[in-house]
Amino acid sequence: MARISQSIEEAKALLESEEIVAIPTETVYGLAGNIFSEKAIKRIFELKGRPLINPLIVHINDLNMLEQIAQDIPEDALILAEHFWPGPLTLVLPKKDTVPDIITANKPTVAVRMPEHPVTRALLSQLDFPLAAPSANPFKRISPTKAQHVANYFPEGLELVLEGGTCEKGIESTILGFENGKAILYRHGALAKEEIVALIGEIGEHTNNEEAPEAPGMLLQHYSPRTPLILVDDVSEAMKDYPEMEIGLIVFSTPVAHHPEKQQMVLSEQRSLKEAASKLYTAMHDLDQLDLDLIIAEIMPLHGIGVGMNDRLRRASK
Ligand code: TXA
Ligand code: MG
Repeated sequence: MARISQSIEEAKALLESEEIVAIPTETVYGLAGNIFSEKAIKRIFELKGRPLINPLIVHINDLNMLEQIAQDIPEDALILAEHFWPGPLTLVLPKKDTVPDIITANKPTVAVRMPEHPVTRALLSQLDFPLAAPSANPFKRISPTKAQHVANYFPEGLELVLEGGTCEKGIESTILGFENGKAILYRHGALAKEEIVALIGEIGEHTNNEEAPEAPGMLLQHYSPRTPLILVDDVSEAMKDYPEMEIGLIVFSTPVAHHPEKQQMVLSEQRSLKEAASKLYTAMHDLDQLDLDLIIAEIMPLHGIGVGMNDRLRRASK
């Protein structure tokens, strides 16, 4: 069983000897390795069971590190970085040759973000290399938002999970690239599209190309619990179709009367999208532990980070 530890020193020592370590970020936990260690990076793909065609996000701590890995950075990218970093925004930028091809799946671009979590910032500040880190879940499973989720996922093959508490944002970063000088949204996530548009104006969207996914978040089946999940407008109405089943519920703010409390996750009684996003994956993990027949999730509000939440729920329902 992977050990959960608060020791940044220990994490640093393992990473410096080309091992991999699970790290906390404000979005979800990541499986991290030195971007320049082929051994560590191969191990990440192997442990996750992730195909090599899916590139990894590089995590940096300051803009000096950005200059080491990216070039010809568009003006809008610099504006966004300045405004939203550290934070849940990943920028896909033209890469420098120094970035190994295995990180970027042979693409000419590299995905970069500066995470905000204090533990991982402290760790990165003590390393002289950036960390590649996909979400710390086996391929196609729900991303982990607690150290224990990671430890449960990898009973073997992972030595250390660096403890960072519950991830504050709770869903993955928003991914933005640039095509012919125009900003394109590749993945909805913890930074609302509206906030990006407010800063740089209208942007394009490429979030549904399943033939040649720019981001595997776009592969059809992803983020799934083992229990079948359906996504509906009206939970009470949908429940009537499954009278014989043990059902788990995920609702935004209003509980369904007479349904067992343990089997229903109310994401935010206050109707706060922020609170709801932070609880979404934990709700999915917890319901998945109960061996139910079906999870019925309510469609979240259609704005702000609700868009990213609905995207994850829709994929979990496929
Ligand atoms: O919040 C997050 O972004 C978390 C934490 C750990 O930072 N990481 C994460 O990584 O979600 P992962 O590997 O699960 O998702 C990364 C996404 C993938 O969909 C990948 O295809 C996309 O980033 N990506 C990476 N490099 C890319 C590139 N050069 N061009 C387009 N998409 C890229
Ligand atoms: Mg992932």
